[in-house]
Amino acid sequence: MSVRREIPPRAVEPDDVKAGRVDPHYRKTLARLLAAHALAEKLTALGYERALEAVKNAELRPAIEKNLVEERRHARLVYRALEELGINEQAADQTMVSAYRSPSFEAPRRFAERTRTELDLLMATVSVDMTGLIMIGVNYRDSSYAPHARAAELILEEEADHDALASDLLGQAVEHYGPLRVNLALRKWIPRAVNFFGPPGSGFTSDCIRFGLKTSDNAELAEIYLTMLERRTRQLGLRLPKLTPDYPHAAA
Ligand SMILES: [Fe+2]
Ligand SMILES: [Fe+2]
Repeated sequence: MSVRREIPPRAVEPDDVKAGRVDPHYRKTLARLLAAHALAEKLTALGYERALEAVKNAELRPAIEKNLVEERRHARLVYRALEELGINEQAADQTMVSAYRSPSFEAPRRFAERTRTELDLLMATVSVDMTGLIMIGVNYRDSSYAPHARAAELILEEEADHDALASDLLGQAVEHYGPLRVNLALRKWIPRAVNFFGPPGSGFTSDCIRFGLKTSDNAELAEIYLTMLERRTRQLGLRLPKLTPDYPHAAA
């Protein structure tokens, strides 16, 4: 996508938005992006709550408990940034009602509300936490909106551990369930994980890139994720499913 960034990292503070020193469309685009980020963090926290109920393996509990506390904190951070713009949590979530039902939210939505088996919960962690880390590390760390860039930095410090947990869980899953069952779970979860990045080349993303709210297109992020995961799954003797070429992706 050949969109040029117009606003450098951390150039915009809440007062600039309130005083109308930025394009009115900037505030709208920012609000939607923050609402999506906040909801994703909140659903991840809810997913870890479910994971605590479902995962019987005592070795995993401390890490899940730690992640739960951290994901709640991440959600609060991003909702607070929305409040600074005059948008409360309920109003923000209200703007996400149709996005919530879309393919891009299927992974966190299932993690939060539908997953029941331990294996699915493990896969959800791998799908939602690794992807979130890429979105935040690549896209939000250099946001033109300074509070979002600062929140991203805090989140990234904690998410480094989450990535290690995701790797551990994948290894544990292979030990407990064997590669065949994990491969089947990957067939279900990897398309959802890739769809979590959102559709490629959308008008919304090109606005985000132009305003400096994101640096990369969703398709580039999905590519980074698949490359990382490919390496990890190969080390564990697993096979990633082939995906259909168009968004929303399914296992081919
Ligand atoms: Fe998080
Ligand atoms: Fe996380």
